[in-house]
Amino acid sequence: MQQIKFYSGENIPLELHKVRIVQKLNLVPIERRLEALYEGGFNTFRLSTKDVFLDMLTDSGTNAMSDNQLAAMMQADDAYAGSQSFIRLQTAVKDVLGKDLLLPVHQGRAAESIISIAYVKKGSLVPMNYHFTTAMAHITHNGGKIAELLYPEAYVINSDHPFKGNMNIELLEETIVNHGAANVPFIRMEASTNLIGGQPFSVQNLRDVRAVADKYGIRLILDASLLGENAYLVLQREEEFKNSNMAEIIRTMTALADLVYFSARKISSSRGGGMCMNSMEIYKELEALVPLYEGFTTYGGISIREIEAMAVGLYETQDETMICQSPGFIKYLVDSLHEKGIPVIRPAGVLGAHLDAMQVCAHIPQTEYPAGALAAALFLISGVRGMERGSISNQRDEDGNETYADMELLRLAMPRRVFTLSQVKYVEDRLNWLYDNRELIGGLRFVYEPPVLRFFMGGLEPTSDWPQKLMAKFKADFGESL
Ligand SMILES: Cc1ncc(COP(=O)(O)O)c(C=O)c1O
Repeated sequence: MQQIKFYSGENIPLELHKVRIVQKLNLVPIERRLEALYEGGFNTFRLSTKDVFLDMLTDSGTNAMSDNQLAAMMQADDAYAGSQSFIRLQTAVKDVLGKDLLLPVHQGRAAESIISIAYVKKGSLVPMNYHFTTAMAHITHNGGKIAELLYPEAYVINSDHPFKGNMNIELLEETIVNHGAANVPFIRMEASTNLIGGQPFSVQNLRDVRAVADKYGIRLILDASLLGENAYLVLQREEEFKNSNMAEIIRTMTALADLVYFSARKISSSRGGGMCMNSMEIYKELEALVPLYEGFTTYGGISIREIEAMAVGLYETQDETMICQSPGFIKYLVDSLHEKGIPVIRPAGVLGAHLDAMQVCAHIPQTEYPAGALAAALFLISGVRGMERGSISNQRDEDGNETYADMELLRLAMPRRVFTLSQVKYVEDRLNWLYDNRELIGGLRFVYEPPVLRFFMGGLEPTSDWPQKLMAKFKADFGESL
C-alpha cells in the first residue's frame, strides 16, 4: 500500500492527480437557499444545481473522469451491432473482473430489474448483507422479499470494526434452512454496503458466503458498484491481503461470485452498467431481457462513447492512487468531525461521510424524519447538498405502513477527485456550527408521497418555522458572509 508522510506529522490526504478542467461553482445567499428548499419540497434530490454549492448528493455519475477516459470517447465505434467499442469493454471486463461474458445495461438498476425478472417470483426470499434502495424495489416489485443479514456490529455507529458489511454466516444458513433453499433464488452481496455507511466486507466473509451458497446449491450475485473501494479497504484492513495489489483483490472477489453486476456510474466513473459471468447458462437466462428492455446486446442502452469511457474506467479501478482519493478525504472529514464530538459513522467507509441524525437531531422523532431534516438544514446554512439515507429512503411495507430505517443518516458523498481539501474544510466548518445550533433544527412531514422510491421525488414541508429561525441565527453569527 502506498503512503506519503508529511514532515510536519500532519495526517492529510495528498491528491495524486492534477486538475486540468474546472467547473465554476456558485454560493447563493442563504435567503435564496431557503426559497430553493421550499421550491424543492425540502428534498435535496429536487434542488437545482444552480442553487447548490458543493454537490455531495452522490458519487453516481459525478466522479471526475480521467484524461484517458475522455480521449477514449473520441474513438467510439458507433454501430448498432458488433461495435468494436463493445469488444474493448468485453476485454476490460475479462481483464479486470475476470468474467468472459458480458451483458451491458444502461445503469445499475437495469441489471437489478433484469435479474429480478429472471429469478424472483412470489415467495422468493433474497438474503443479502444489506439492501440498496433500487435492488430492494425490483425484488419486491417482482413479488419477492429480502432478508438483511448483517452482524450486530454493523449497526454500531462509533465502532472500529474493519468489516461492518460482512454477511452474518450463521444467520444466512438459518434463513436458507427455514425458508427452503428452493425459494432462495440467489444470495446478494453488496460491496461497500451503501446504506449503512459505505462499509466493506472482507474477502474471507465472501468465501464463507460462497461455501454456504455451494452447500445449498444457490447462486451468489455480487453487486460490484463500489467494488474498487471495497478492495481498497481490504488492502488496508485484511491481513492476508496487505501485500496484494488492487487487481488481485478485485479478481479474488469477483471469482467467488456466479454473477457480477455493476453501476458504471460508480465503479468506472462513466455512465452505464453491466452484468458479467462465466456461465453460459446464466448468460442465456438473462440475455433475452437485454434487447427487450435496454437495447441490442452490444450497447445495452449506453452511449458508445460512454462504453469506451467505461472500459478505461474499469482498468483505472485497479489503480490504488485513483481509488484512494475519495476514501482518504472521507477519512479526513470523519476523523475531524469525530474529534469535535459530532456523531458520525466510524470507521470511515467509502462513498461519503455519514452523520448519525438520530443522535445529532435526538429531539426530532423518527416520524418526522431527522435525517431528511438534517440534510435540509445543512443545505440551508451552507449550500452543501447531501442525501437523506434514513426512513424517507425506506419503502412502506405491503400493507402501506411506514417502516422506520435502522439508521437515520445524512450522507455527504465524496465523488472521486471532484473536491479540494479546502472545500472539505468548509463542510467541516459549517457542520461544526450546525451541530452547535442543532436544537434549532425541526422535523419534516410528507405533502406528496410517490408510491415507489418516494425519496427521489417526494415533497415535504417543515413542521414549524424552524428554517426561518435557523436562518436568523446563521445571519446573526455570520453577518454578510455567504
Ligand atoms: C450499491 C449500489 N447498487 C446499485 C445501484 C444502482 O445503480 P444505478 O444508480 O446506476 O442505477 C447503486 C446506485 O447508487 C448502488 O450504490
